[in-house]
Amino acid sequence: MSTKKSAAKPVKRAATQPVTAKDNFKSMLIENRVFKPSAEFSKKARISSMAQYKRMHAESIKTPDKFWAREASELFWQKKWKKVLEWKAPFAKWFVGGSINVSENCVDRHLTNGRKNKAAIIWEGEPGDSRTLTYQQLHHEVCKFANVLKSHGVKPKDRVLIYMPMVPEAAIAMLACARIGATHSVVFGGFSSESIKDRLHDCQAKIVVTADGGYRRGSLVALKKNVDEALRDSASVERVIVLQRTKQEVTMQDGRDFWWHTECSKVSAACPAKGFDSEHPLYILYTSGSTGKPKGILHTAGGYLTGTYCTSKYVFDLRDDDIYWCTADIGWVTGHSYIVYGPLANGATVVMYEGAPNWPEPDRFWDIIARLRVTILYTAPTAIRAFIKWGDEWVKKHDLSSLRLLGSVGEPINPEAWMWYHKMIGGGRCPIVDTFWQTETGAIMISPLPGATPTKPGTATLPFFGIDAAILDEDGKEVGPDQGGKLVVRKPWPSMLRTIFGDTERYKSAYWGTYKGIYLAGDGARRDKDGNFWIVGRLDDVLNVSGHRLGTAEVESALVSHEAVAEAAVVGRPDEIKGQAVVAFVTVKEGYKTDAELIKALKAHVGKVIGAIAKPDDIRFTGALPKTRSGKIMRRLLKEVVSGGLVKGDTSTMEDLSVLAQLAASNGKDDE
Ligand code: PRX
Repeated sequence: MSTKKSAAKPVKRAATQPVTAKDNFKSMLIENRVFKPSAEFSKKARISSMAQYKRMHAESIKTPDKFWAREASELFWQKKWKKVLEWKAPFAKWFVGGSINVSENCVDRHLTNGRKNKAAIIWEGEPGDSRTLTYQQLHHEVCKFANVLKSHGVKPKDRVLIYMPMVPEAAIAMLACARIGATHSVVFGGFSSESIKDRLHDCQAKIVVTADGGYRRGSLVALKKNVDEALRDSASVERVIVLQRTKQEVTMQDGRDFWWHTECSKVSAACPAKGFDSEHPLYILYTSGSTGKPKGILHTAGGYLTGTYCTSKYVFDLRDDDIYWCTADIGWVTGHSYIVYGPLANGATVVMYEGAPNWPEPDRFWDIIARLRVTILYTAPTAIRAFIKWGDEWVKKHDLSSLRLLGSVGEPINPEAWMWYHKMIGGGRCPIVDTFWQTETGAIMISPLPGATPTKPGTATLPFFGIDAAILDEDGKEVGPDQGGKLVVRKPWPSMLRTIFGDTERYKSAYWGTYKGIYLAGDGARRDKDGNFWIVGRLDDVLNVSGHRLGTAEVESALVSHEAVAEAAVVGRPDEIKGQAVVAFVTVKEGYKTDAELIKALKAHVGKVIGAIAKPDDIRFTGALPKTRSGKIMRRLLKEVVSGGLVKGDTSTMEDLSVLAQLAASNGKDDE
């Protein structure tokens, strides 16, 4: 792997200035640094120029059926589809009449294409143990576990709830479900028994697959115990299959609970992959909206696999010799699409790590990359900001020269975090793909293509092939450059959600109720003059200050660009004169004093970066921000804090939000 520092070149230096837009939804953080892919990267990439991207994108929008049919044909179909798309808004059917087995595509296919003995999963446990599964070995394990599920009465469309640590068996269980047509619903291993209970109840799972426990920051997580509690009053669950991971003590209920290894020893390793209808339900994954109970997002076989396969191929430009590492947990959609289905459908080698990034020390990730010679790293801004806070010396201890591509997902990445990622981790040579997508979209929607797209820190840039993304105003009219509005998708795409499990009305109103036949992502965004999409935050996080709408993400990015700031969250507080006042919660880096002087400096800094309008009225320092398990800041809780609830007098500038964070984490809420 070359370490030549020729890649991403800044074309222009930053200049931040307010934009005047006719619309009152202003986007004021302007980032002008442009990084082009290096000639060396482009030369080898599948999509190697903007001209090629533009041509293919235009074609894919004009004749989407043709584009998606070509992509889908690269997969193995037991029976070919009759029609690419049947669209009766808002209900889509993709590859109508086609028959496919998702597990066969992710595993069996590679037994005959030269990848049989290639590593499919390189796994590392938190305590330091490790395993590598070749495609052949993965096939063996998947078939066995599929037979175990069958032996316990699991039939196509039955729901299987998976509550596992980050071990290969989590992926094996998912692929085993897919193999026999069962619908899995993975619940993040960090969620509480209450969350399992709600999800079990909603999807009416027949079987739970779990482990005795898992490792997290040196401690044991009691997974089986949480399942036991969740099952106390569950009527639907008949069996629990328990993987032995930690060997901690667990209670096994006779007739209900079975050990994974014992059950696997009883079944054969022959489990031919039967084809299922392209629209067969593959999985349900719960995610929350701004209000109400979590939504069970339903994805189906053929379209979802086509979307994740195709985006993995182009966005990560996956190569046979890549060592690809997505650091997400399998309990999130990123883990589904970009640890399991997308990369494995491409025959990639995937790294999977069980534990915390700072265990035993804050350099665990860098140590893994250096040892395994990881070439592609896909992680989240929240992790990047944590690394920045922990200090550069942890990174500098390791040789990261194997990396060739970096990815980001989950929230807007602050330009300063982007620059740090680019320089410190990417050594200035790796393109960064900032990928915008959602649990609902199933696959990446807006992202640079690493060999083609010039990137700017903080933007996910341009829509992927076949994705007709736009920004609309209240009346459904497309807005002009640098004007804010609502991010939508005007055409169906294969990996889109099909419905909310058990709640079609909510599906219709949440995503299709605002503009007829158009998908509402729920994010505020703007496009710059080059057409790049800048996500400014969820629509309900948008502030309205003196008649100007401001995205919280922009103010946060401005704060984070100050040298003292590690992380920031911004919310609005009702204000008689301005409509809303801007309140910022800030955590500082090691060694900075949280005093009145810093408050003054930060206000001035935001004023300088964005403009006076965005200056926080109130800055509160805190040791930690309340976050969801996936690392998203829970602004809803912060709003409650600023509107009275938990504030104890205004004299102190120090707020203890760690209690709130713990509360939020322990009840497993994953609201924005
Ligand atoms: O607000 C956007 C933000 O995360 C939301 C989707 O969250 P979730 O369904 O949990 O999926 C996360 C992983 C795909 C979006 O509505 N988001 C995700 N990626 C980005 C982003 N915001 C800005 N830039 C991104 N790259």
